[in-house]
Amino acid sequence: MSVTALDSEITKSDKYSILLPTYNERENLPIIIWLIIKYLDNSGYDYEVIVIDDGSPDGTLEVAKQLQKIYGSNKIVLRPREKKLGLGTAYIHGIKHATGNFIIIMDADLSHHPKFIPKFIELQREHDYDLVSGTRYNNGGGVHGWDFKRKLISRGANFLTQILLRPGASDLTGSFRLYKKDVLQKLVDCCVSKGYVFQMEMIIRARQLDFTIGEVPITFVDRVYGESKLGGSEIFQFAKALLYLFATT
Ligand code: GDD
Ligand code: MN
Repeated sequence: MSVTALDSEITKSDKYSILLPTYNERENLPIIIWLIIKYLDNSGYDYEVIVIDDGSPDGTLEVAKQLQKIYGSNKIVLRPREKKLGLGTAYIHGIKHATGNFIIIMDADLSHHPKFIPKFIELQREHDYDLVSGTRYNNGGGVHGWDFKRKLISRGANFLTQILLRPGASDLTGSFRLYKKDVLQKLVDCCVSKGYVFQMEMIIRARQLDFTIGEVPITFVDRVYGESKLGGSEIFQFAKALLYLFATT
């Protein structure tokens, strides 16, 4: 066997755990899972999808169980929690159960298209990045379907954070990312925030700890089914965390 063949043999033992936090995503879940499986089976990487449902009243978990029957329990892993405990802790819960050496984090509402996943993986492998972040704000990335208010909030949050913390990444609040598992664990251990603002803190901490970051331009499409769980209190949490990080990092 040639060296290169051996190389690819070894890296083929990499496994990607895709975390899908869900709260009332009954309509979206079958489509997102179908797409993930389609794109990952095509690319030949080993993977699992971990669904973390927080007791969705719309019956998302029942749908997830059906999907598990269709695709198999080695591909679809269910790690539900009793009630809605927030996005940040949903990820932490998922990481605990992940068997891959890489973790991919994405939304389940079709805002993050699974077609980008192979691009994240290839970029990581090319440069051995510690984390690869999807970006809406660089090199052809973008947002579709958001109203002016939502665009302003997102742009504003990114802009303020860029100025105050100079993080060296173009999309701080996005949550379509790939991490080496041990890197993600380290970041989680030093992260203080638990809500949506978690994403921003993670990438700031990553810079601080000198982890290497790659970026893949993505288009973020607003959800068609269901509604966003981002509210006024999340915006307040964000501002609070930003000031905290500004004061402490
Ligand atoms: N398990 C669990 N528990 N899942 C949750 C919870 C929760 O408490 N809250 C939200 N989710 C899930 C949703 O079901 C969806 O799959 C994903 O987390 C994102 O939630 P959305 O409500 O769709 O978020 P968004 O579209 O407003 O916000 C997106 O953009 C933000 C900034 O641009 C997300 O990607 C955020 O993470 C991001 O900060
Ligand atoms: Mn969404």
